Order: sequence, then structure tokens, then C-alpha cells
Amino acid sequence: MKTAIIYYSKHGTTERVAHLIGEKLSPEPEYISLKEFYNPDIQDYDRIILGTSIYAGHPGKLMSKFCNMNRTQLEQKVIALFICGMNDNQEVEQLKNAFPEYLHSNALAEAILGGEFLFNKMNFIEKFVTRKITKVTCSVSNLRYDAITVFLEKLNNKGSDI
Ligand SMILES: Cc1cc2nc3c(=O)[nH]c(=O)nc-3n(C[C@H](O)[C@H](O)[C@H](O)COP(=O)(O)O)c2cc1C
Repeated sequence: MKTAIIYYSKHGTTERVAHLIGEKLSPEPEYISLKEFYNPDIQDYDRIILGTSIYAGHPGKLMSKFCNMNRTQLEQKVIALFICGMNDNQEVEQLKNAFPEYLHSNALAEAILGGEFLFNKMNFIEKFVTRKITKVTCSVSNLRYDAITVFLEKLNNKGSDI
């Protein structure tokens, strides 16, 4: 099964998670950053894994645009969805809003995979907002390795609910 992981990542965390997932898939998928290719050709892929980080409650605009522009093709693929973020309280809502309904209803697996605050990658405003809202003052990683494992089990068709 030919797979692509298509992701939006601002500071590199979603990209890192994409690789943590992809390294455990066989054959290893192709990785496509929407920052590099805003509307990649997906014709050759059977399975598409979509991942985006969340900022101010919203997914990357490039991800939303990609999902809207490619609906007809995406409806014919095996789909899996994940988000990266640091707001545990809103995470279910954020996952729901990150992708259009037609993808949720087709998805084989969906996951909330945690996130990171990387102060060395943030601009001045991002640092200010993060400090003010979360009181976090230095880099922190809250990746959910257990959730990544469960997500992979579903992708590899070993999950008990498949
Ligand atoms: C300014 C700012 C706003 C953020 N807003 C949210 C948010 O609304 N919800 C959330 O879950 N995480 C939020 N985050 C956390 C990011 O989603 C997290 O840092 C994520 O790992 C970034 O992934 P990326 O490097 O792939 O873009 C925010 C981070 C920053 C710096």
C-alpha cells in the first residue's frame, strides 16, 4: 500500500511526529510538507495520513485548503488523521474542527498526539502569548508516545476495534 504523510508543521513538531509514525510503517511512506508543496499530487497514493498542528484553536490554513481542494480524490483513499497541540482541555473539539466532516466519517484512525513548546523556534509574539496564557517559560515536550503506538496499531490493522 503506497502511503503519504501530508502535514502542516510550523516549528517542526508535527513533522517530527510524522516521521515517528512513518518509521514504523512498512514500506516507509513519503513525507509531504504543505509548507513546501501546498497542493501535492496524491493520485499515486492508496493511503493518506494527514497531520496538522493547532494554533489559536485552528489547524494550519494550508491543511484546510488542501482538504477542500482535494475532496474528490481524498474520498477514495484510506485516511488517517492526527493533530498536535498543547491544549488538553480543547483537544477533542480541536480534532473535530481540524478536518472536514467528510474526512472524519472516512477515517480509519484519528489521534491527538500531544505537542511541544519550542521557545527557540518561536517569534517574539508567540513567546509572549505562550508565557502569558500557559505560564510556561521554557521549552517542553508532551508528545504522546502511547497514542502514537495505538494509532500505528490501527493503521497496521491490528487494533481490536478494526
Ligand atoms: C502562539 C501559540 C498558540 C498555540 N495555540 C494552541 C492552541 O490553540 N491549541 C493547542 O492545542 N495548542 C496550541 N499551541 C501549541 C502548538 O500546537 C504546539 O506547539 C505544537 O506542537 C506545534 O507543532 P508544530 O511545530 O508542528 O507547528 C500553540 C502554540 C503557540 C506558540
